[in-house]
Amino acid sequence: MAEQNAGNIIKQIYDEGNITKEQLSFLLQTKETDAQQELFKKARSVADGHYGKQVFVRGLIEFTNYCKNNCYYCGIRCENKQINRYRLSHAKIMERVSIGYEIGYRTIVLQGGEDAFFTDQVLCRLISDIKGSYPDCAVTLSVGERSRESYRRLFDAGADRYLLRHETADAVHYGMLHPDVMSFSDRMQCLQELKQIGYQVGCGFMVGSPQQTIDTLYQDLQFIREFQPHMVGIGPFIPQKDTPFGNRQAGTLECTLRLLAIIRLLHPKVLLPATTALGSIHPKGRELGILAGANVVMPNLSPADVRESYALYDHKLCTGEEAAEGLAALSGQMERIGYQVVCARGDSLVVS
Ligand code: 5AD
Repeated sequence: MAEQNAGNIIKQIYDEGNITKEQLSFLLQTKETDAQQELFKKARSVADGHYGKQVFVRGLIEFTNYCKNNCYYCGIRCENKQINRYRLSHAKIMERVSIGYEIGYRTIVLQGGEDAFFTDQVLCRLISDIKGSYPDCAVTLSVGERSRESYRRLFDAGADRYLLRHETADAVHYGMLHPDVMSFSDRMQCLQELKQIGYQVGCGFMVGSPQQTIDTLYQDLQFIREFQPHMVGIGPFIPQKDTPFGNRQAGTLECTLRLLAIIRLLHPKVLLPATTALGSIHPKGRELGILAGANVVMPNLSPADVRESYALYDHKLCTGEEAAEGLAALSGQMERIGYQVVCARGDSLVVS
C-alpha cells in the first residue's frame, strides 16, 4: 500500500515538476525501503535520460582559507584560530591548473573564503590567464558574496560559472546559521545578479543543518523551482569541532540521498554533484549519490600540503579517489556502478 503510494507521489512530482509539503514529508520520512529504492531508481533513470551513463568531473582548487565571515557551521570562519591559514600564489594556482589540465580536467573550480586579498584585479588576472592558456576549459568561481560590478568584471574576464549556495531559503533559519552582519536578502540578491550577468549559477544547501525542518527544506525546494539554477550543490552538514555548531548532529546519508533524488526529479537537467561532504560521511557516499541521481564529482586539485587546512568540517576527504590525481581510481569506482567519467566541460543542459 505504502509502496503504491510512493510510486504515485514519485510519478506526480516528476510529471508536475513540483512537490507539496506533504509529499516531501512522506518521501523524506517513509521507512519503506522499497519506496526509497523506487525514488532512487526513478531519479537515476531521469538523469540517465538527459546525461547518459556519464559523470562529469571538475578539478577543485581551494585557493584561500582566509574568510571574513563567521558562519556558525563553517571551519574556516574568521574566529577559528585553530586552523593554519593559507593563500595560494598566482603561480601556484596556475601550476595546479596545468596539472589538472594534463590529467584531463576541463572545468576548473576556484573556491575560497571571502578573502579581501583577492581583489577584482587579482582574480581577473587569474581568470584571464587560465582562459588564455586553456581556452577549452570552463572556469567556475566559488568565492562568496561580491558586488554586482565585481561579478560583472569576473565574468568579463572569462569566468563561466558561479557557485553560491543559498544555505537556506528561510530568512529566519538563515539568521540561525549566520551572524547578524550577514543578510539573507544580500545572499538572494547576489544569486539574482549572477544569473542576470549570464553565469551558469549553482545554489544549494546543507542537509541536516541545525534547526532545519521539513518546512525549511520545502522552502529550499520552492526557491530552487523559482530560481531555476543550472547547478544545485547539496551535502550533509558535518560538525567542525572548533565552530559554534561543533557539537551538533550531522546530516544523514539517507536524507541527503533522498533529497538528491527529489531534486533530480524536479529538475531533470540540473547539474547535481555528489559532494565531498557526502563522500566524507560514508565510504560509498559518492557512488550512492550518483545512483540517487547526481551526475557530477569534484575531486580535490589543491596542493596536497594545504588540503587539510581547508577544513570546512571534520574528517573531510581529500585523498584517494577524492584527489584529482586519483582520477583513474575514481573512474574505476564509477565504472563499477555502470558510469563513465567524462572530462569534457560538461555544461548544464538547463537554459535560462
Ligand atoms: N558541513 C557541511 N558543509 C559545510 N559547508 C560549510 N561548512 C560546512 C559544514 N560544517 C558548505 C557550505 C558552503 C560550502 C562551500 O561548504 O554550504 O557553502
